[in-house]
Amino acid sequence: MPEPLLDRIGRPLRDLRVSVTDRCNFRCTYCMPKEVFGKDHAFLPRSQILTFEEITRVAAIFAGLGVEKLRLTGGEPLLRKHLEKLIALLTGVHGLQDITLTTNGSLLEQKARSLFEAGLRRITVSLDALDPRTFAAMNDMEFPVERVLQGIQAAADAGFAPIKINMVVRRGVNEADLLPMARRFQEPPFVLRFIEYMDVGNTNGWRLADVVSGNEILDRIGAELPLVPLTPNYPGEVARRFRHRDSGGEIGVITSVTQPFCRHCTRARLAADGGLYPCLFANRGLDLRAPLRAGLGDREIAELIRSFWSAREDRYSEVRSEATRELPKPEMSVLGG
Ligand code: GTP
Ligand code: 5AD
Ligand code: SF4
Ligand code: SF4
Repeated sequence: MPEPLLDRIGRPLRDLRVSVTDRCNFRCTYCMPKEVFGKDHAFLPRSQILTFEEITRVAAIFAGLGVEKLRLTGGEPLLRKHLEKLIALLTGVHGLQDITLTTNGSLLEQKARSLFEAGLRRITVSLDALDPRTFAAMNDMEFPVERVLQGIQAAADAGFAPIKINMVVRRGVNEADLLPMARRFQEPPFVLRFIEYMDVGNTNGWRLADVVSGNEILDRIGAELPLVPLTPNYPGEVARRFRHRDSGGEIGVITSVTQPFCRHCTRARLAADGGLYPCLFANRGLDLRAPLRAGLGDREIAELIRSFWSAREDRYSEVRSEATRELPKPEMSVLGG
């Protein structure tokens, strides 16, 4: 076995999150507010986006460096045409043990079966509310929640398991949906995760007062639906997991604001344009597209990634402060969360 590749504070490289497009058909107010991402917004031209072949090549190089888990994100990844082809290519990459995808669910009803047939087995759907008005207001496109729920059902019918549901909780916006969400998704194949609202990007006007802490969420859910803690699947797992005592289903909280998990963060992020980022909050990436297109060999690209990871010392959530909040940060729609 080769020596594991460690960063400056001893963290191995294990996961790769790949954004396949910077476009989205939602305009969630906390991610792509319409004032910034309006009709004239310049999204990446196709020529600047990595092709499926380029992504697969990069994924194989990462797998050679120890990456086992790959997540496709966006923007909205299902807007990328023929994404099934990419999934089929990635399932052939030696060493990748787990391939998954985070979607807003809007196109899942049409796509669930073909994604499953292409080899995807696990999926995560972002859903912030069940209440039709709250949901439509949050995505700011009047997109009906019913269509996302039909997409989730289509994923269950196609055989996806588990189906994780991510709910970003914002004080005063969707708090009232906490319990209805917990009730609706309390049985397998569903695993609901509540996410503390983070200060990602530069456009959402985040304030600490908008965050509902994981502990408060657990208290509020636990008062109605008793929860039993579960042991982590791996050190530094992103979600703290619990079991519903009565239904047996799983639920979790992702507390990146109140209890950060940078110490064990093994994730690298590849933006749609081929920029490689060491952290969700890193304002600069290493360009992999130019070397890929300049004809460098796999070994040379692996060497670039090695030195990139060896130099990594990011731990933004642990050092978050008034001062770090003012730093320029990449947008969530570019880095995929
Ligand atoms: P699973 O293996 O499916 O459980 O993946 P995961 O736990 O990494 O979950 P997912 O990729 O769905 O991430 C859920 C949310 O957690 C993201 O949308 C982010 O809001 C947050 N998150 C995930 N990874 C990080 C990270 O490295 N740093 C921070 N600060 N937040 C993260
Ligand atoms: N804080 C926490 N999570 C966020 N997401 C988007 N913006 C934020 C934020 N500011 C989540 C989405 C989705 C994933 C890609 O990231 O809801 O589940
Ligand atoms: Fe909303 Fe996700 Fe689209 Fe951002 S990328 S606008 S969070 S659906
Ligand atoms: Fe990893 Fe950066 Fe998130 Fe910390 S803030 S867990 S280092 S991505």
